[in-house]
Amino acid sequence: MRAFQKSQPIGVYDSGVGGLTVLKTLHEKFPHENFVYFGDTLNLPYGTKSQEQIVHYSRNIITWLAQGPQVKLVVAACHTSSALALEEISKEFDVPIIGTIHPLVKSLLKKEAPQKIGILATPASVKSLTHEKIFVKAGFQGEIVSIACPDFVPLIEAEKWDRTALKKCAEVYLKIVEEKKLNALIYGCTHYPFIKSIVEEILPSSVTTIDPAKHIALEVFERLSKDNLLNGANVKGKSEFLCSSDPQAFGEKVQRLAGFESSNVILKDVHSSEMRSNSLL
Ligand code: DGL
Repeated sequence: MRAFQKSQPIGVYDSGVGGLTVLKTLHEKFPHENFVYFGDTLNLPYGTKSQEQIVHYSRNIITWLAQGPQVKLVVAACHTSSALALEEISKEFDVPIIGTIHPLVKSLLKKEAPQKIGILATPASVKSLTHEKIFVKAGFQGEIVSIACPDFVPLIEAEKWDRTALKKCAEVYLKIVEEKKLNALIYGCTHYPFIKSIVEEILPSSVTTIDPAKHIALEVFERLSKDNLLNGANVKGKSEFLCSSDPQAFGEKVQRLAGFESSNVILKDVHSSEMRSNSLL
């Protein structure tokens, strides 16, 4: 087992900009930590890919985060990767990996959880039934309705948002919320909190929405504290951004959607075989 240092960065990844909704929260909660964010823009969207592909992409990204920037912790800020890949690949790595689903379920069930929960997610996540399985395994006895939202990610990743199209899709996807009289709705894809205002305009006011980001941050805190790896340095941490295609477009989105200064996004092909042996940042 490798010994990690407090000064090592935390790796955060997603298929694209979605994980930034998690990174923003992590950045606020851990201002002294350094972050390396990787967006797999070449393979976006993950939500319509096969499990085999998602496992392959996730394995390559985590391998690179561990060997290249040598992160002390990986946050899979992607429900699709968490749902379809982490169970299979986590044990291959020394570096601890935190996904999106377990931290959410754990902290929701600590309190009195809502009993009729809707989960907005990608088609691959919905098909995998992983959210449901993890809720049930943790003792949840209420009702879960998963709602696949295939058009959200491409619309959110577009250069310019088409709010009318986003709203139209949201109206269709959210119909079931009233039909099933759900009382809570989870953003089960890290892209979706970006369109919170559109979703919440349509939802009945009795429905609570849940963004897993703060639950993920809590899990990060617990894990780093337990391992004595919280960065105690009294300087502000930095975030670096890398992606697998079109770094300029990605940089613009990082800035526009999440407000990070990102003028020098680095293009990184984590999926090429030579990176496994010697490629660093
Ligand atoms: N943001 C990701 C998730 O949380 C992936 C979305 C996609 O690429 O389809 O599921």
